[in-house]
Amino acid sequence: MALLGKKQEFTYDTGDLKVPVSLGVIMDGNGRWATKRHLPRSAGHRAGAENLKELCRNCGRYGVKYLTVYAFSTENWSRPQDEVEKLMKLFVEFVDRYDPELKEEGVRMRFTGDIAALPEKVKEVIKIEEERSKDRQKMQLIIAFNYGGRREIVYSCQKIAEQIKAGTLEPSDITEQMISDNLYLPDVPDPELIIRPSGELRISNFLLWECAYSEFWISDVLWPDFGYEDLTQAFRDYALRDRRFGGLSKKDSKK
Ligand code: IPE
Ligand code: IPE
Ligand code: MG
Repeated sequence: MALLGKKQEFTYDTGDLKVPVSLGVIMDGNGRWATKRHLPRSAGHRAGAENLKELCRNCGRYGVKYLTVYAFSTENWSRPQDEVEKLMKLFVEFVDRYDPELKEEGVRMRFTGDIAALPEKVKEVIKIEEERSKDRQKMQLIIAFNYGGRREIVYSCQKIAEQIKAGTLEPSDITEQMISDNLYLPDVPDPELIIRPSGELRISNFLLWECAYSEFWISDVLWPDFGYEDLTQAFRDYALRDRRFGGLSKKDSKK
């Protein structure tokens, strides 16, 4: 795409890096990217959608198995109606138009969020895409669309409450595992790493339950400019993180 900077070629970085099985990316900064170029915000969203293809390709080649990207939050409805409508249209276009390329890369597409509340056309493409990509094995691209972490936890609680109502479960028997098992996509592992471009130091309601022990990697690069080198740097830094999970470092626990 002419608007984007140079494409960065994928050459497997053999240095000290660690590739997460499950990765989350908050695709933020499209508006700022467009404003910097005196373009409408919608041009930023389009450039951001193009860049998702690039991220997918690089993650697939690095061996990421689950890539969850934040594309539209339950709070994003508060934007001007025109922007929301354009985002819905772009989503439909993206899913449809990119399918052949994702197919070539062996990418299965799934969706997470309050899908039932989305416009009919959006629900339709989601259904078609989930069905046509379901046997692809290399990587899962999970698009969080009309997604809110709090709403997802409420959804899980409501499903558990049904069992209590039916008399098959006692409230005191609810476990953390049960809440995980009743989220939108219970088979997707919690992300080990969450990347947020554009510099904001917040989670913005993304994967609240799942991020309990995720590592965070923040970059000032705006999402449409986030490329192979940024991803590689995130994986290099991730390799240096000491994930203690409340315990001790491996080196300290031997003492
Ligand atoms: C992310 O980019 C896309 C969505 C939230 C839909 P933004 O539109 O939030 O871009 P900024 O943060 O205004 O630059
Ligand atoms: C988070 O970005 C949501 C997505 C990237 C889809 P926002 O731009 O909506 O987040 P805030 O408003 O900066 O928290
Ligand atoms: Mg933003």
